[in-house]
Amino acid sequence: MNKSDIERVLITKEEIATRVAEIGKQITEDFQGEELVVVCVLRGSIMFFADLIREINLAIQIDFMVLSSYGDSTNTSGHVVVKQDLACDIKGKNVLIVEDIVDSGRTIKRLREILNEREPKSLKIATLLDKPTRREVEVSTDYTGMSIPDEFVVGYGLDYAQHYRNMKEICVLSPKVYN
Ligand code: IMP
Ligand code: MG
Repeated sequence: MNKSDIERVLITKEEIATRVAEIGKQITEDFQGEELVVVCVLRGSIMFFADLIREINLAIQIDFMVLSSYGDSTNTSGHVVVKQDLACDIKGKNVLIVEDIVDSGRTIKRLREILNEREPKSLKIATLLDKPTRREVEVSTDYTGMSIPDEFVVGYGLDYAQHYRNMKEICVLSPKVYN
């Protein structure tokens, strides 16, 4: 990783931690007395997921899914394929999908359809980031960390070509990296 690949820090680790704690508290209140299956959509949401579940004070189960979506380096095609499915049966369960970022909206729209077919009791979506100006299909999320402008970001789980996931902050990638 080259330091000059990063244009600037967009969200500091303190800002991330504050917001993740707020969302965890909200989820705890919203699901009082209920059980919850929290689904980590690998790989981008690992950091958010790991921090968020520790802020949720409920009886939870965790599970993982790997999706792949074909597209070019900074865009999704919307053709979403399940590469690794959940281990548990979500029928009749409260399910919370944890995503890194909603961009065109195609991935989350498709994932919602796939999981809804399994008849969960409820299905909610928590996304760390949202780029509302990039939306191509209508999707609603239930918990959103932060809305960000139309810039390609990396760090705190988010990658460009599998790099930068281990950065502690969320940073704007220099366009020279992908142009
Ligand atoms: P969508 O289907 O267009 O909403 O794309 C969502 C997926 O694209 C996310 O789960 C990310 O993997 C990826 N993505 C979109 N924008 C960014 C970004 O700025 N940085 C890193 N990954 C992104
Ligand atoms: Mg992703």
